[in-house]
Amino acid sequence: MENGQASKTAMRVAMRRAAHQMIDRPLVFDDALAVKIVEPLLAIGGHNYEIKRSKHAVSKAFRSYMVGRSRYAEDELARSVKSGLRQYVVLGAGLDTFGCRNANADLNVYEVDFPATQAWKRELLRQAGIAAPENLHFVPVDFDTMNLADELMAAGFDRSRPGFFSWLGVTMYLTIAGFRKTMQAIGGGSGGSAVSFDFSLPRESLAATEQIALDGLAKRVAAAGEPLTLFFTEEEIAGECRRAGFERWEFLDAGALNRRYFSGRTDGLGLVAGAARLATAWK
Ligand SMILES: C[S@@+](CC[C@H](N)C(=O)[O-])C[C@H]1O[C@@H](n2cnc3c(N)ncnc32)[C@H](O)[C@@H]1O
Repeated sequence: MENGQASKTAMRVAMRRAAHQMIDRPLVFDDALAVKIVEPLLAIGGHNYEIKRSKHAVSKAFRSYMVGRSRYAEDELARSVKSGLRQYVVLGAGLDTFGCRNANADLNVYEVDFPATQAWKRELLRQAGIAAPENLHFVPVDFDTMNLADELMAAGFDRSRPGFFSWLGVTMYLTIAGFRKTMQAIGGGSGGSAVSFDFSLPRESLAATEQIALDGLAKRVAAAGEPLTLFFTEEEIAGECRRAGFERWEFLDAGALNRRYFSGRTDGLGLVAGAARLATAWK
């Protein structure tokens, strides 16, 4: 992340979620605020690339991944809430709208993000007229330089009770130290805690076509000032989960997400095999 600059990749992901609401049926990820939160950006122009290109195959594949991973994380959250969990932490929240859509008054939501991104998001919420409910707590944190557990507790998070964490589209932009500190902060919490996150496989482990796709993405995000910095094999992530105190984990690739959320569609929406892996770790 660039010092003092809000995340541009967060805006692009949000535009893809908005395009999904506007264009795709049936919805994989139903987000009643996804369009509203980007309206102030669309109003000033120059930000609708992802929406204009939404019928293009590459755009569809990216959009499928973005909405598939959000759906997966919210499905996992719902499972945890059903078993009594009452704290949800959205790490690297970007323009994620769950905290403002949350219909469960007993579920406290902590949005953690790079301070400049969070300030920009709060201004967008204000401009869009989206109210932040009382059980939504904003926690500005730089994972690479600050202590997540301390900042969460200062905001009211109870470490003696379980929390569900989502961490989508973030790990690949961190330092290894920032990644490990964050995993330990989650894994060192109460039993019953869990985290859904995604990570990127290393280039050398990919097929030639997947390498080309990763190179394209790496170029685009580097140009936005957010270069890809961190890659793991599944074996390495399993080791990271174990060391951080988690007891079990699962990984999903494009095929698994397609079977779960995109089967039977006739509009060509679905993921293409590539470097991205989704994971949940439980303790
Ligand atoms: C690609 S966006 C994903 C946003 C959101 N999770 C989503 O799926 O829409 C990456 C997010 O990671 C955050 N981020 C990147 N590096 C960070 C750091 N060192 N500390 C805190 N947040 C960071 C950015 O501010 C941004 O919100």
